[in-house]
Amino acid sequence: MLLVMAAADSVFAFHNGGVGDCDGCHTMHNSSLNQPMAKSGAPVFAGNAYLLLGSDQSSTCLICHSGSVPTDDYKVATNPVPGPGLPPVQLTPGGDFAYMQKNYSWLTSSGAQGSSPGDAHGHSIIAADFLYFQNAVYTVSPGGSYPSAKLGCTSCHDPHGSYRLTSATAGTFVKAAPGQLGLPIVSSGSSGALPTATGAVGAYRLLGGNGYAPASYPSAPFVNDPPVAVAPVVYNRAESTSDTRVAYGRGMSEWCQNCHAGLQHASYPNSTVQNHPFGNSAKLVQEVVDTYNAYVKTGDLSGTAATSYNSLVPFEEGVTDLNALATDTTSTAGPSVYDNVMCLTCHRAHASAWDSMTRWNAAKGAYLTVGGAYPGIDAAGAGSNGEYATGKTQAEYAKTMYDRPAAKFAASQWSLCNKCHENDQYKQ
Ligand code: HEC
Ligand code: HEC
Ligand code: HEC
Ligand code: HEC
Ligand code: HEC
Ligand code: HEC
Repeated sequence: MLLVMAAADSVFAFHNGGVGDCDGCHTMHNSSLNQPMAKSGAPVFAGNAYLLLGSDQSSTCLICHSGSVPTDDYKVATNPVPGPGLPPVQLTPGGDFAYMQKNYSWLTSSGAQGSSPGDAHGHSIIAADFLYFQNAVYTVSPGGSYPSAKLGCTSCHDPHGSYRLTSATAGTFVKAAPGQLGLPIVSSGSSGALPTATGAVGAYRLLGGNGYAPASYPSAPFVNDPPVAVAPVVYNRAESTSDTRVAYGRGMSEWCQNCHAGLQHASYPNSTVQNHPFGNSAKLVQEVVDTYNAYVKTGDLSGTAATSYNSLVPFEEGVTDLNALATDTTSTAGPSVYDNVMCLTCHRAHASAWDSMTRWNAAKGAYLTVGGAYPGIDAAGAGSNGEYATGKTQAEYAKTMYDRPAAKFAASQWSLCNKCHENDQYKQ
C-alpha cells in the first residue's frame, strides 16, 4: 500500500512547482519516435528543436497533458478528439483544448446559417502531433503583437518553472538571475502550499512572469508578473453538485495583457459599450455586488451572499495572501466591494465550446436553457432551434456547463452577464 502511494506520489509530482526531470520532456540524443533515420541507419541530427520528445513544444506537453478520460487532474485536452455529437471531457478551470478541433454549424429557426468554428474557441496552440494548428483568423494577439505562428504552451507557461513566491502574503515574484541560485522551489504554488525560509513555491500554474520569453520567441518578453491565485487540489471534475472554485487573487488581467495590452472589445451583445472594465482596479460597485449575491437565475433574486458563488462567473479578490485564498477555495460566498472583474470573469484561459472562449454562450443565441432543459439538436420543442442548440446535443451542451443540471437555471435562462447586471427580469 505504501509502495503504491509512493509510486503514485512520484507520478503526481512531476514539475513540483519548478523544473521537472529533464528527460520527461527532453531526449538527450534526439532519439524520439519522430526522429527520422538516415538510410545508413545513422540518426539524423537535425531532429526536434531543443531535443524535445514531441515534434514541437506543445506536442511534448500533450504527451502527458492529454487523455481520453478525466482521471488525472492535469489533463487539459481530450485525446483522441471526440467525434460529432460527443463532448470533450476534461473539466479543468482553463478548459479543454479539444474544443479547438470541434466545429459546430446550424440553421436558425428563420433558416439562417450559423457556425462556431474550432479556431474561435480559444488559444490555437500549435501541437502538430495532436493536430493543433495555427489560428486562421488572427495573425497576432488582438490588442497586442504576439504572433499566432508562435503560440504554444510555453508562450504562457515557463517549462522550467523559474518564477517563485518567497513570501506567503506579499505576492511579489522572484526569478533567480543567471548564474545565481534563488531560494529553491520546493512545491507547486497552485494549491495553497506556503513558502518558508528555506524553500519557495512556484508561480501559479508555472506561468511566465516579468521578463519571461520562451527560447523559441525571445523578442517579446512579458512585462507583467503571474497572477496570484490558489486552486483546489482536485480541479478536473463535474460541477453537478458543487462548484470548483479557483480563488483568484490579483493580476490575472494584467498578466493576459502581456499579449493583449491594447485590447478594445468590439461591442457587447445588447450593448454599445466599447470596452468592459477589467483588472486589479475594476472593483465591483455595490450595486453589482448586491446583484451577484441575490441572483440565483433569471427571474429569481432570492439568493444570499453566503451561497451565491458561481464558477461560471468568477471574480478576483484583490488579495495576495495565499492562506486566505486557500481557505476561499472551499467557500461558496459571493463577492464584496473589494473584489474585481477580470478577463476570466467572462473567458476561460485555454478553450471553451463558445466563440472567443467565453465561459458560457455569451455571443451567439439568447437562451442558455429552453423549456427547463439545455438546448440541443436532440431537444424537444424550441430547444432544438439552431440558434440555441448551436450544433450540439443536449449532452454536449451540459458538458459545456461543466455538467451542472439545467434545473440550476430558470426555465428560460438568459445570459450570465445578468449575474452582475440584472437586466433579464423582463425576459421571462
Ligand atoms: C516540462 C517540460 C520540460 C522539462 C521538465 C525540462 N524542459 Fe528544457 N525545455 C522545454 C521546452 C518546451 C523547451 C523549448 C522552449 C521554447 O523555446 O518554447 C526547452 C528548452 C530548453 C533549453 C534551451 C533553451 C532554454 O530555455 O535555455 C535548455 C538548455 C533546456 N531546456 C534544458 C533543460 C534541463 C537541463 C532540464 C532539466 C533540469 C529541462 N530542460 C527540463 C521543456 C522542458
Ligand atoms: C512527463 C509528463 C509531463 C510532461 C511532459 C509535462 N507535464 Fe505538466 N504536469 C505533469 C504532472 C504529473 C502534473 C501534476 C503534478 C505537478 O504539478 O508536478 C503536471 C502539472 C502541470 C501544470 C500545473 C502545475 C502547478 O503547479 O499547478 C502545468 C501548468 C503544466 N503541467 C504544464 C506543462 C507544460 C507547459 C508542459 C510542456 C512544456 C508540461 N507540463 C509537460 C506531467 C507532465
Ligand atoms: C494563453 C496562455 C496559455 C496557454 C497558451 C496555455 N495555458 Fe495552460 N493555463 C493558462 C492559465 C492562465 C491557467 C490558469 C487557468 C485558471 O486557473 O483559470 C492555465 C492552467 C493550466 C493547467 C491547470 C489546469 C487548468 O486548466 O486550469 C495546466 C495543466 C495547463 N495550463 C497546461 C497547459 C498546456 C499543456 C498547454 C499547451 C497544450 C497550455 N497550458 C497552454 C494559460 C495558458
Ligand atoms: C503569450 C501571449 C498570450 C497571452 C499571455 C494571452 N493570449 Fe490570448 N491570444 C494570443 C494570441 C496570439 C491570440 C490569437 C490567436 C488565437 O486566437 O489563438 C489570442 C487570442 C485570444 C482570444 C480570441 C480567441 C479567438 O480565436 O476568438 C481571446 C478571447 C484571448 N486571447 C483571451 C486571453 C485571456 C483571457 C488571456 C489571459 C488568461 C490571454 N488571452 C493571454 C496570445 C496570448
Ligand atoms: C465582461 C465580460 C468580459 C471581460 C471582463 C473580458 N471579455 Fe473579452 N470578450 C467578451 C465577450 C462576450 C467577447 C465576444 C463578443 C465581443 O467580441 O464583444 C469577447 C471577445 C474577446 C476577444 C476576441 C477579439 C475581439 O476583439 O472581439 C479577445 C481577444 C478578448 N475578448 C480578450 C479579453 C481579455 C484579454 C480580457 C481581459 C484583459 C477580456 N477579454 C475581458 C467578454 C469579456
Ligand atoms: C463579475 C461581475 C460582472 C460581470 C459578470 C459582467 N459585468 Fe459588466 N460591469 C461590471 C462592473 C463592476 C462594471 C463597472 C461598474 C458599473 O458600471 O456598474 C460593469 C460595467 C458594464 C457596462 C457599462 C455600464 C455603464 O453604466 O457604463 C456594461 C454595458 C456592461 N458592464 C456589460 C456587461 C456584459 C454585456 C456582460 C456579459 C458579457 C457583463 N457586463 C458581465 C461587472 C460585471
